[in-house]
Amino acid sequence: MLEMITAIIKPHQLDNVKDALLAEGVEGMTVTEVRGFGRQRGKTENFRGSEYKIDFVPKVRIEVVVKAESSAHLITVIADAARTGKIGDGKVWTTPIGSLLRVRTGEMDIEAI
Ligand SMILES: Nc1ncnc2c1ncn2[C@@H]1O[C@H](COP(=O)(O)OP(=O)(O)OP(=O)(O)O)[C@@H](O)[C@H]1O
Ligand SMILES: [Mg+2]
Repeated sequence: MLEMITAIIKPHQLDNVKDALLAEGVEGMTVTEVRGFGRQRGKTENFRGSEYKIDFVPKVRIEVVVKAESSAHLITVIADAARTGKIGDGKVWTTPIGSLLRVRTGEMDIEAI
């Protein structure tokens, strides 16, 4: 069984998270620049904006497909590498993956990770 771990993190923590995942043997990931907000609605992260306007804050989304049995451990690895202890450190969630294909070789599922 495969799962996709999605992590929304602070951009400055990306290298730290990437290095931590590489050290765990992860061999591929997708990284996207995104914007979002959490329960502070982006406010206290940059100390500006009005009471009612939501401020989107730049974040990085990391997507990595893993064996389901590895995902709980990798979530803690990601969180430990992403954590600054301040608000806005992000979220990590998992999604079941139906199938995975390595295009070049035709390998499927766990063989395609
Ligand atoms: N419920 C959610 N669904 C989707 N994305 C979310 C959700 N909550 C947060 N995010 C994304 O994660 C980013 C970081 O969220 P953040 O760490 O501020 O969450 P929080 O719940 O406010 O926690 P904290 O109080 O530690 O700041 C947001 O900018 C947004 O991109
Ligand atoms: Mg927040």
